[in-house]
Amino acid sequence: MVNIVFKFFIAISCLLIFRGLLAEPLLDGADFDYGEYLSGQCLTCHQNSSDEGIPAINGAEALYIAKKLILYKNKELENEVMQLVAGALDKEQIASLAIYFNSLEK
Ligand code: HEC
Repeated sequence: MVNIVFKFFIAISCLLIFRGLLAEPLLDGADFDYGEYLSGQCLTCHQNSSDEGIPAINGAEALYIAKKLILYKNKELENEVMQLVAGALDKEQIASLAIYFNSLEK
């Protein structure tokens, strides 16, 4: 009996660990077309190549972009403009922008 309970416990633990590994909550609800639509406001500054202190974000990892935007939104990264821009974005918009910029050529 104890053995069965133990096996059950292990099975559930494995399931939860796998679910955690597979799911990427930061990119939940990402919508490519929405990202493309929203990207217009970013392109005035973010060009193909880094320029005057503005890093290029084309082709960057989607997770990298999303994490940075969340850090700016939470004011954990210093940059007034980006804090303002990211502050106005919700989670879904951040995810959409992240997968869109990731798809662009570097
Ligand atoms: C007015 C100019 C401007 C606009 C508009 C703007 N950004 Fe930025 N962004 C910057 C600057 C400048 C930095 C670099 C800040 C620093 O390093 O302190 C930056 C940094 C970033 C970074 C971090 C890149 C890295 O490698 O560190 C990301 C991601 C980013 N912006 C995404 C966006 C997105 C997405 C939008 C549109 C929703 C956007 N930005 C709109 C100027 C802008």
